[in-house]
This record gives sequence, structure tokens and C-alpha cells, in this order.
Amino acid sequence: MNYYEFYEKQLSENDNEISKVGWHDIEKANKRYKFAADLIMANGGGNVLDVGCGLGIFRSYVPECDYIGVDIYPPYINLAKGIKDTSFYLGTVDSVVKEHNLEVDNYVSLGAYTIIHENITNVEKYVFEEISFMLSKAKKSVIINGFHNVVDSKDYKFYHSLDSLVKFSQKYNDTHKISLHIFSKYEFFLQFILSN
Ligand SMILES: C[S@@+](CC[C@H](N)C(=O)[O-])C[C@H]1O[C@@H](n2cnc3c(N)ncnc32)[C@H](O)[C@@H]1O
Repeated sequence: MNYYEFYEKQLSENDNEISKVGWHDIEKANKRYKFAADLIMANGGGNVLDVGCGLGIFRSYVPECDYIGVDIYPPYINLAKGIKDTSFYLGTVDSVVKEHNLEVDNYVSLGAYTIIHENITNVEKYVFEEISFMLSKAKKSVIINGFHNVVDSKDYKFYHSLDSLVKFSQKYNDTHKISLHIFSKYEFFLQFILSN
């Protein structure tokens, strides 16, 4: 199953909004959204750009923040565009931020770098380049949620190597406060807060 087939299946075969973006444990998904929102609010809020926003569900968890959603799957963006007081854009984070000249306090990515488009050959390089872009632009923080590599693998999924993620993050030690939060047995949040 390729990338588009995977998300097409999630959208057409599920009734629940959360399952439509590929999360099948609804209770855990709600905790994931809340966890990310708490990290943002504990650092003083600000506007949020949700990378891989899906249907924009996270918007309702940060109601006090201006919210921008970005996704590469057109049907999600088309459906999400109805949510009020938001902006949604189709594309990758770097293309959208550059094209619209966006000023962003907090970049957040929930599960985006888990199912990877089959055209991407060096997945880790691709993910690190996207995170580096966010880190070069974020005025306050970058929060990356993902699954690490002890999860049993299916070939179209990507599981982050915690070792290489931690090694990657160390490049930002001088400029950011970095925290790794273990969310559940196989799932983490990596948070970078820009130092003053
Ligand atoms: C598991 S879904 C989660 C959706 C949303 N973050 C949520 O938690 O409700 C992952 C989403 O990331 C999107 N995605 C994957 N790679 C992306 C990329 N490089 N840039 C933007 N969106 C991406 C997918 O199209 C999909 O909508």
C-alpha cells in the first residue's frame, strides 16, 4: 500500500474523525493532542503551525492560539478548510512557510513522520531536513511526536531511531533547551525550546 492509498483507506473506511487520520486508539489520540497542547501552553503559548495537520483536530486543543495547518494530502486540507479561525495550506512545511511568509512561534508535528511517501528514499535525511527547517524558523519551540524503532515494523511505516534523533538534536544544544518525553512504551515527543 502506498502513501496515498494508506490515507485514502483511513478516510473512507472510518466514521470517527480521529480514526480518519490514522489514529485507531481514540483515547490515546486525545491524550496525545492534550500532551502537545500542554507543552505549548507551558511555554507561554503563541501561534501554532501544525505540520501534517490531517483534519486539523489539534486546533480545538489550542483554542487560545492562532492556528495554521499544513498537510501534503489534498483531501484532508480540503475537508479541514471549513474550521473557523484557522488557515490551512496544502504543501510541505518549507514551501508553505516561504510562499506565505509565515511567522511561527511553535511548530508541532503529531505522527506526520510515521507513514512516509514512497518517493522518499532516504527517510531519515528527509525527516531531519524538515525538522532543521522548523528549527531555523521557530520563534519559540518545535515539538515532534513519533514512534521509535522498537515497534514491530511494517514496511511502509517509519520508526525513528532514538539514538540518531538524540544525536541530531545535540547539534542544537547551544541554541535550544531540548527535552525527550517518553509518551508511552513506543512513542515519544521531542521538544526544542529556543533559548533566550
Ligand atoms: C497520522 S496523520 C496525523 C494527523 C494529525 N497530525 C493528527 O494527529 O490529527 C499524519 C499526517 O501527516 C501528513 N504528512 C506526512 N508527511 C508530511 C509532510 N512531510 N508534510 C506535511 N504533512 C505530512 C499526512 O498526510 C497525514 O495527514
